[in-house]
Amino acid sequence: MRLVSVVGARPQFIKLAPIAKAARAASVEHVIVHTGQHYDPMLSEVFFGDLGIPTPDVYLGIGSGSHGAQTGAMLHAIEGVLTAQKPDWVLVYGDTNSTIAAALSAVKLHLRVAHLEAGLRSFNRRMPEEHNRVLTDHAADLLLAPTRVAMDHLTAEGLASRAVLVGDVMTDVLLEVRDRVAGLQSPLVREFAVAPGGHYIATIHRAENTDDPLRLAELVGALSRLDRPVVLLAHPRLTAAAAVHGISLTRGSLIAHTPLAYPDLVAAAMGSAGVITDSGGLQKEAFLLRVPCTTARSETEWVETVELGWNVLAPTAREIAAAASRAAPTPTDAVPYGDGRAATRVIRELLLRTPERH
Ligand code: UD1
Repeated sequence: MRLVSVVGARPQFIKLAPIAKAARAASVEHVIVHTGQHYDPMLSEVFFGDLGIPTPDVYLGIGSGSHGAQTGAMLHAIEGVLTAQKPDWVLVYGDTNSTIAAALSAVKLHLRVAHLEAGLRSFNRRMPEEHNRVLTDHAADLLLAPTRVAMDHLTAEGLASRAVLVGDVMTDVLLEVRDRVAGLQSPLVREFAVAPGGHYIATIHRAENTDDPLRLAELVGALSRLDRPVVLLAHPRLTAAAAVHGISLTRGSLIAHTPLAYPDLVAAAMGSAGVITDSGGLQKEAFLLRVPCTTARSETEWVETVELGWNVLAPTAREIAAAASRAAPTPTDAVPYGDGRAATRVIRELLLRTPERH
């Protein structure tokens, strides 16, 4: 089987790591295409090195731009690559502009597309990611769902016959890295001499939180008034927006920091009193590490984290302050995100549907 993976943004590199490993174990011919959506070394290269991902076979270097310019440039460039590669399957990941561009390029060439992390929904039509995931699900031939809730969404949209529950591949990586860094000190505890468990970590990068200056000022103000130091791992989108709007990211309790490499992020989350974020992946990682999470949004795709009590949706400054310092959640041994072997299942499902070449 020849498989082409198309990735471009930070969370996709994390998801690619276990897929690349499982593909190698099954002797699958795996071609990795990097669109270049994320190009800063701390958002891209560092993940390949730390997670043992092979260097991309094709780097498209598309970079930043408006949604139309960025997605359009990818669509055009990916078409050329897929025409040359003629894969049995094109695997697309998550909900970014790289995802929708690759899915659309592939289906127009009559190539089979599998969508990893299918069926997630926020039902918030203001989020670019929501359109990327809905449109990709409806275009794709195989929908690889991470959770039962995702399967239910796909069924409700008439897509059950193309859907299969495989579990969450980010869980594969997280569990492995958690075991690797267990016992190591958080890099933030070292750097800032903060007490282990005596500080929060935060990330804010979604367009709906960064692009409106009033919204951004509200969030940054809320973080700066929390009851413990807050290390803000600032995504370039946040840093750029804060600079444009004249909003300081280091004040009060708040200390701005560059993004962390993945093992450092896991160690930092484990060494913190809690996580405050608008990231999808980090909500789930906090749950898997059993660190309380406060989500600066009014909805989440990972509803299990909320239902099990480890995540609180806190869209306003007042709600963030109340949620961040709440009492410890009730322990749980629930495993809504699978057993850490989702990537092996993904490769198996693809091979099952590629009778002619494997
Ligand atoms: C993208 C995804 C989002 C995902 C996130 C993970 C879309 C629509 N959004 O958001 O789903 O959760 O990645 O991080 O695809 N920038 C840099 N250096 C980089 C990358 C981006 O400086 O390496 C800056 C640029 O100014 C760019 C801005 O960040 O304009 C936004 O980048 P973009 O790729 O559009 O989306 P993200 O916010 O990273």
